[in-house]
Amino acid sequence: MSIPQHYQRAKELLAKHGQSHLLRFWDDLDDARRAALLDDVEQLDMELLAGLIDSHVRNAPPLELPDRIRPPHALPNEPGDEATRQRYTDARALGEQLIRDGKVAALVVAGGQGTRLGFDGPKGAFPVSPLRNKPLFQLFAEQVRNAQRRYGTGIPWLIMTSPTNDAATRAFFAANGHFGLSAEQVLFFTQGTMPAFDTDGRILLAERHRLALSPDGHGGTLRALHRSGVLDRLADAGVTVLSYFQVDNPLVHVIDPLFIGLHAETRSQVSSKTIPKAGATERVGNFCVVTGPDGADRLTVIEYSDLPDELAHATGPDGRRLFDAGSIAIHLFDVAFVQALNAGGFGLPFHRALKKVPHIDDAGRPVEPAKPNGVKLETFVFDALPLAARTMIYTTRREEEFAPVKNAEGSDSPATARAAMVARAARWLGRAGVAVPSRPDGSPDATIEISPLLADSAEELASAIEPGSVVPARGAALYLEPQAG
Ligand code: UD1
Repeated sequence: MSIPQHYQRAKELLAKHGQSHLLRFWDDLDDARRAALLDDVEQLDMELLAGLIDSHVRNAPPLELPDRIRPPHALPNEPGDEATRQRYTDARALGEQLIRDGKVAALVVAGGQGTRLGFDGPKGAFPVSPLRNKPLFQLFAEQVRNAQRRYGTGIPWLIMTSPTNDAATRAFFAANGHFGLSAEQVLFFTQGTMPAFDTDGRILLAERHRLALSPDGHGGTLRALHRSGVLDRLADAGVTVLSYFQVDNPLVHVIDPLFIGLHAETRSQVSSKTIPKAGATERVGNFCVVTGPDGADRLTVIEYSDLPDELAHATGPDGRRLFDAGSIAIHLFDVAFVQALNAGGFGLPFHRALKKVPHIDDAGRPVEPAKPNGVKLETFVFDALPLAARTMIYTTRREEEFAPVKNAEGSDSPATARAAMVARAARWLGRAGVAVPSRPDGSPDATIEISPLLADSAEELASAIEPGSVVPARGAALYLEPQAG
């Protein structure tokens, strides 16, 4: 189709939906820019958007919480009795076997824009480790390499990018030799986008020839996996489980045999890790149980902002918080489950967010808003949980697995993540019989970094080093890595 034909089609479509302003600068554009603009317009699913503009953009949809929200059952971190101890031992062995058999792939979602961190580049390129300044991506890559060596297998690593950071992410991996992984095993795929709107439901222009588009939320993962063909490729290669995590968490245990084994043993379709919340209203999702349309119990996540106050603060007879299962966005997804969702043409619900959206006004002048001016629509991956018939939650420990890098300063910042990495390294050393000097407040008085190539758990570190071989001095910097040779 020629540009004039495309233009005619776009013009009619946009007029029908009250979005003709998107072509306002057409006469000023050269051919390349015209083509780019038509490209953006053709990506829009106008039928879907028309409905959403009514229900989600012009007005905030009423919060529809399910009836009878109950706390979930989560498997404990440590087994409390002999039967559970045996169960965990067997599950770990099962998980190890699945990894060895090449059934497990890692999946990181890295399509977000990292606006809060204020870092100019893909968030995974952010240097975070306390001594070597390793970027987030390198910490994950080294865990994958370590697991491959330990289990004598290959582990595919899927990286979800967005159109905004895809090229930069790929270039970062290429420039760093894929951090020692083979280029073939690192599989990039790109999530979809949604336009941003003003509060009257008009789609915003980023430039005269570009719509203001942003990633469609991490819920886009499940569809993009399918559309990119990556999901079927993995299934053909025999992969059955995806180990899902967010790019912002340097403490995540990328390949966890116990978690994977419990997932398999319970025949779960989606499993999640939880931690006890730091407070009733901590800014994490809450695992809850609700009743599905079929009358069966379903697991769901209710965001901190949506959980009613009386539930957030509710306590049981023993005085403990009832809704205490925080989501740290670590899940296992069965490949067959994700395939079935896509075959059924599923759609996750959209969530509305009022945000600052830079754009151009009707005269083509750039607008840098000082306060939220636009609406973005996103889907969340955890909204797939209630679609799973069988789920499992395993409790982990915050200090072992959760220190997200979200803000430039204060809580959940690079500083808190680094401190958590040092504290965990010191704890692992302690478990290996190495005394680490501490300050009066109990924090380690040494800066310690353990290469994920050496160990990704306390147990592995204990078997990798001799207690007398490492003596951290007060105030010293200590980097532990595998010995060459
Ligand atoms: C998220 C979860 C919250 C959880 C917390 C744990 C949501 C809505 N909430 O909060 O339940 O307790 O993490 O840290 O997600 N991403 C994409 N594409 C997108 C949007 C996000 O890949 O379109 C990725 C980001 O790169 C990041 C992750 O998803 O790795 C989280 O996104 P973010 O918006 O930072 O989530 P939070 O609101 O911090």
